[in-house]
Amino acid sequence: MTLVICPNLALDRVLTAGPVQPGGITRGRVLRVQAGGKGANVLRATLAMGGAGRLIGFAAGPGGRLITGLAADEGLKLETVETHGEARVSTVVLGDDGSVTRLYEYGPELAASDEERYIVLAGRRPALPGEWAVIDGAAPPGVSPGFYAALTRAGHGAGYRVLVDATDEQLAAALAAGPELVKVNLAEACSVIGNAAEGCTDEKDGAPEQLAAEGLELCRRLVTAGARGAVLTLGPAGAVAVLDGAEWHVTTPAVRAVNPVGSGDCFAAALVLALQRGDDTAAALRQAAAAGAANAASALTGHVDPALAERLADRASAGRP
Ligand SMILES: Nc1ncnc2c1ncn2[C@@H]1O[C@H](COP(=O)(O)OP(=O)(O)OP(=O)(O)O)[C@@H](O)[C@H]1O
Ligand SMILES: [Mg+2]
Repeated sequence: MTLVICPNLALDRVLTAGPVQPGGITRGRVLRVQAGGKGANVLRATLAMGGAGRLIGFAAGPGGRLITGLAADEGLKLETVETHGEARVSTVVLGDDGSVTRLYEYGPELAASDEERYIVLAGRRPALPGEWAVIDGAAPPGVSPGFYAALTRAGHGAGYRVLVDATDEQLAAALAAGPELVKVNLAEACSVIGNAAEGCTDEKDGAPEQLAAEGLELCRRLVTAGARGAVLTLGPAGAVAVLDGAEWHVTTPAVRAVNPVGSGDCFAAALVLALQRGDDTAAALRQAAAAGAANAASALTGHVDPALAERLADRASAGRP
């Protein structure tokens, strides 16, 4: 069972619309309303791929109750810490020109007592051997810079192996707490290590070989900074990793991408599921890339069709760079 630690739950809306015009009116149709935030994607993908898990989050106001109800309707096990304020909404607009526009609200400002109750919740139930905790998403406003580091320690204290997918100061502090894995993209890695002058371009649209070389160097630095292993995903250019001291290059199957939002979350979900099952590293990385690609091919966020992912895994590769 994967413990998904998602301190920034959201109400997710996916709309289809004409091109979004800043300053103008954009009319659209609702494709999906669901419990969201990066961790909700991880749990949704985990269940789709035959795994089990539970999600912990904060719940604020009427929006928080709506998220809790939507999670229950979908069969996502969710436990929350109640807070003041109002839950955030994340809207993804799929333009009929193929554009994907994200409108993300900040969540409510949290108090130190909210943070403390959440850390207790994260460490409350002991893990079974080999189980993973996934800490996923940007931190909500008001929390201390050491929040994700404390969550990493709480996960370890309960016996979990911990994967962190985060950014900026939370990622920096969590690295020092020694998570078994970090799963980030270029922008997230660049937010804590390296800068443009050191070859951190923070873009996914470079040449794949150049992105892979840059990503591997960032993985090495993430490990030097304290992570036991690091995976850096590169969208359609696949991923690179440093795991158990070995370097990996992963190619992802080509798909017609409709909505790649949440592909990194589906990648993380599949990776820990496969590692927990005892699959070898290469197989786990191929399944992870396939889950990310399957999500990108779907209009929905954090959505993996397991049959498609299984087929795509045969078209992914994981080997030495
Ligand atoms: N357009 C695409 N075509 C094929 N595979 C894709 C595509 N986009 C993503 N993927 C797969 O999903 C993985 C994760 O994607 P990406 O690097 O975009 O994650 P991310 O930036 O963390 O996304 P998010 O935070 O929205 O979940 C990639 O390594 C790749 O295997
Ligand atoms: Mg991500």
